[in-house]
Amino acid sequence: MNIVVTGGAGFIGSNFVYYLLKKRPYDRIICYDCLTYAGNYETVMPALAKPNFRFIKGDITDREQVAKLFRTEEPDVVVNFAAESHVDRSIANPDVFLKTNIIGTSVLMDACRDFGIVRYHQVSTDEVYGDLPLDRPDLFFTEMTPLHTSSPYSASKASADLLVMAYHRTYGLPATISRCSNNYGPYHFPEKLIPLMIVKALAGEKLPVYGDGKNVRDWLYVEDHCAAIDLILEKGRIGEVYNIGGHNERANIDVVKTILRALGKGEELIDFVPDRLGHDRRYAIDPAKISEELGWLPETKFDEGISRTIQWYLDNRDWWENILSGEYKKAYEKAAKGKLAYSTL
Ligand code: NAD
Ligand code: TYD
Repeated sequence: MNIVVTGGAGFIGSNFVYYLLKKRPYDRIICYDCLTYAGNYETVMPALAKPNFRFIKGDITDREQVAKLFRTEEPDVVVNFAAESHVDRSIANPDVFLKTNIIGTSVLMDACRDFGIVRYHQVSTDEVYGDLPLDRPDLFFTEMTPLHTSSPYSASKASADLLVMAYHRTYGLPATISRCSNNYGPYHFPEKLIPLMIVKALAGEKLPVYGDGKNVRDWLYVEDHCAAIDLILEKGRIGEVYNIGGHNERANIDVVKTILRALGKGEELIDFVPDRLGHDRRYAIDPAKISEELGWLPETKFDEGISRTIQWYLDNRDWWENILSGEYKKAYEKAAKGKLAYSTL
């Protein structure tokens, strides 16, 4: 099978690429990514050594580029991770979120209709459900929870989900959607809570905690997310939505303190800063559907996952230091000039 992974140079997409290369050595994996600030060519460079992997620099909102991708690579499956993904950036500038997350999704699906595919999978988020109150720990998001978005990011993701369902119903597009809780793990861009706090703590800088720090997120180790998507591709029912999450709820302040403890740093580094606008209080997923129908369960407990993640950031300083210095942005250019091994360009 030819599997196109859009956004495969970002955090979850790259983990998915490596997951597929291990799990499906006989499939061809094509990473299609336009390398925004969040895309990192250095992340996928080791994969270029594999004969069944290809990187193509391209934009999901560009119809001509997408048509060329489909003509040359003939995908059987498209898994769409490509998105603008940071809530704070969506508050500062919603525009590009609407373009990438909504228009990009429709451009990809139009190409799927024109060329024909076996499966289109949309990677979505639990943020489409809005938030839950802190004083009702008995409440969880199910697939039946109404869409009720808070940020321009979540609104753009919910819009894309609605388009996917519409393309399925109207055109018979063989689509599935997964809505996952907050991921953490290797290759996470250091603007999101966990990697940002690790990097700042290592530098001895202040750790900015929004509001009272009591907001709760349901953390899922990224490899568990990859396994769930792979299972949906194999056994998921067309036209269905699957929630992915693992009852790993933690208040932000507790996550930050765990990181500080693990790195031997003091809590005086914590800096409570003004709250994010429209800040969602609590996310919590009920994964009963994917567990009962497909047999998926998260394997990594938070304590184990966070230790592994912190260790990864300690072992891969070059990766994130190149991001902080901006050096990572030059990697693709260098490869295009043939200066690096394994370039497939
Ligand atoms: P990310 O920001 O780390 O990566 C996004 C990738 O998409 C980057 O490589 C970027 O270059 C690429 N991209 C952006 N615009 C593009 C375009 N127009 N054309 C082609 N490529 C483009 O994001 P992530 O955290 O890996 O999230 C991946 C997906 O998973 C997103 O759809 C996000 O909404 C969803 N999601 C993320 C989380 C999370 O905790 N990070 C949780 C649930 C769902
Ligand atoms: P984030 O990693 O941006 O993910 P999301 O907003 O999609 O859940 O943020 C996770 C939580 O951490 C969220 O409640 C906001 C909070 N946060 C901080 O307190 N400080 C920060 O510097 C960041 C980036 C996030």
